[in-house]
Amino acid sequence: MPLPNFDQTPIEFGQPVPQKKSTEVLDALFHRRSAPAPTLGLPAPTEEEMDLLIRIGFRVPDHGKLGPWRIVRFTTESKVELVERLKVLAESRGDKKAVGALQKLSIPPEALLVISSPVFPYKKPLWEQQLSAAAVCQTLLIAAGALGYGANWITDWYSYDEEAQAILGLTEGENVAGWIFLGTPTEAPLERERPNYEARVSWWEG
Ligand SMILES: Cc1cc2nc3c(=O)[nH]c(=O)nc-3n(C[C@H](O)[C@H](O)[C@H](O)COP(=O)(O)O)c2cc1C
Repeated sequence: MPLPNFDQTPIEFGQPVPQKKSTEVLDALFHRRSAPAPTLGLPAPTEEEMDLLIRIGFRVPDHGKLGPWRIVRFTTESKVELVERLKVLAESRGDKKAVGALQKLSIPPEALLVISSPVFPYKKPLWEQQLSAAAVCQTLLIAAGALGYGANWITDWYSYDEEAQAILGLTEGENVAGWIFLGTPTEAPLERERPNYEARVSWWEG
């Protein structure tokens, strides 16, 4: 799939960055919806598109320019191997639910593992560094949608389990911000219930 035609001219450091109005962006955000991982199939983003997604993902707000995140990529073969190793781990514990949950990892044709990798000693608060990693995940979702793909932000047990984290290659202080699963949805996701606006917005009353 050729990349959409948009201005990708690099802008030199310190030069003005024009900010453009876009009703298409508004429309996409207004209707944003994740595509459940098990519905994601081929075609997957091409290598060129994956590269673009990552570059866009790394343009997130980042207090102190620390870049407190990293992304791990998988080939088709290495994803199969990862699923197998996680399956062995789950089976060794007799955890059928954990084995079943691996479907979300195995079915989508592409996956990006976004790792929160805070820079220590904390020149900026740890929380802010972690928030920036979450922003990478959300930006990847939006950009994937703009390229015409479905995407799903998942954590699941293998993001929190210590042995699984070792298999993923996490180091001290790192956390999985999210797996971004990518592909083409086999069906349009249905709208889900949305949080109540009034209950979540208030005026400061002193
Ligand atoms: C940090 C984070 C982790 C998530 N992990 C999971 C998960 O493990 N399993 C799952 O079914 N949904 C998970 N979700 C929720 C989905 O990504 C998605 O947001 C949800 O299904 C609602 O769909 P929507 O994005 O269209 O509102 C997670 C969301 C976030 C922000």
